[in-house]
Amino acid sequence: MSDPLLQFQDVSKSYHRGTEEIHALRHVSCTIEDGEFVVVTGPSGSGKSTLLHVAAGLDKPDGGKVTFRGTDVFQFGSRKRARFRRRNIGFVFQFFNLVPTLNAVQNVSLPMLLDGIGKTEADKRAEDLLVQLGMESRLHHKPNEMSGGQMQRVAVARALIADPPVILADEPTGNLDSEAGAEVLAVLKDAAANRGAAVVLVTHDPEAAQIGDRRIAIHDGNILAAV
Ligand SMILES: Nc1ncnc2c1ncn2[C@@H]1O[C@H](COP(=O)(O)OP(=O)(O)O)[C@@H](O)[C@H]1O
Ligand SMILES: [Mg+2]
Repeated sequence: MSDPLLQFQDVSKSYHRGTEEIHALRHVSCTIEDGEFVVVTGPSGSGKSTLLHVAAGLDKPDGGKVTFRGTDVFQFGSRKRARFRRRNIGFVFQFFNLVPTLNAVQNVSLPMLLDGIGKTEADKRAEDLLVQLGMESRLHHKPNEMSGGQMQRVAVARALIADPPVILADEPTGNLDSEAGAEVLAVLKDAAANRGAAVVLVTHDPEAAQIGDRRIAIHDGNILAAV
């Protein structure tokens, strides 16, 4: 059998605040397979963002092991890890995290430029994907000239542009009204399915929690149920 896409084996992560130790993840084990859409639910402070940051190789666990197709990502130095992330992980944030001075096409092509792809090709690929995501009328607009839903579509395009096998989305509808949120989720689900990418979606939104193939409930750093 081939190695799973993403695997957490007995992963723990604590933070220190003054003298207090906060156990953000406690002995978490779970597996994400290629192409599946997994929804992670749990109250605020339960460890959902930490789970995604550790999965992305952004935050090092202090116990256990996280592997991507069998490889421990934390064995790489920070440069190699950054490159690994650009190629393998798409991240969508609650507050979009777009570059305010760049237009939609430029925001989406930026990761490709960092990866050494020429500007003409990067812009063309960014434009094609943005059009697929319904953004044809906003290609050359900057974030402050877009609605929240449009900004999040640009962020989804940026996450997908390198064709990563997994998209990690941290409350991507948390700052959108319910209509725009539902649209963004539909766009994300469709685009990921077309490309065969797995999605790990963290959400508070009960409606959003319905769209996945599978749900993981997390509470106080523990996985309660992985259905
Ligand atoms: N950088 C940090 N420093 C200190 N504590 C943190 C840090 N990041 C997260 N925490 C704490 O870890 C716990 C889990 O946080 P988080 O993963 O952000 O939860 P969630 O995304 O479910 O709201 C919380 O108690 C939070 O306050
Ligand atoms: Mg969070």
